[in-house]
Amino acid sequence: MAESNRKVLFSREKIAAEIKRLGQEISRDFEGQEVMLIGVLKGSFLFIADLIRELKPPAVVDFVRLASYGSDTQSSGIIEFRKELEMPIRGRNVIIIEDIIDSGYTLECLYHKLLLQQPQALKICTLIDKRARREVEIDADYVGISMDDGFIIGYGLDYDEKYRNLPDIYLIEDS
Ligand code: IMP
Ligand code: MG
Repeated sequence: MAESNRKVLFSREKIAAEIKRLGQEISRDFEGQEVMLIGVLKGSFLFIADLIRELKPPAVVDFVRLASYGSDTQSSGIIEFRKELEMPIRGRNVIIIEDIIDSGYTLECLYHKLLLQQPQALKICTLIDKRARREVEIDADYVGISMDDGFIIGYGLDYDEKYRNLPDIYLIEDS
């Protein structure tokens, strides 16, 4: 992909400001309680690293790795678990940490699987919400940035496994 085909959509400053706000919201909602962050790999690795440092309540971390079959830019709705949780979540205040919600298939699948394990609370936090693209009814409790359609890369988000290391988020423009 040529560099001319992408432009900064959300700057690192904007991302940091929204994560600070999310940290305050979660800290207020779970004041005096322990939270468990479940990062959805790989896309959320930078987000969870920055968010957890904005939290005041004691926090523990675990990860799942999910992959949805489909093309590079379109989810098929068939979700594969490539890495399971290592810690029990029963009775815990669990917050799923996602990089982006698009069709919602990935999250719906994870949400219902975790719900069966009887957490005390089960919340969803996403850095980016593409709400207009939702195909199943699932909404995040904590949303960093909402956007319309468009494919984005950077700050953990990939295209064909590349560009996760870009500090800002870029919109890929069709050429
Ligand atoms: P969903 O199941 O359609 O909601 O897809 C969610 C997953 O697709 C995210 O966790 C990302 O890994 C990936 N994804 C969706 N939209 C984008 C994007 O614009 N850039 C990079 N990855 C994306
Ligand atoms: Mg993801």
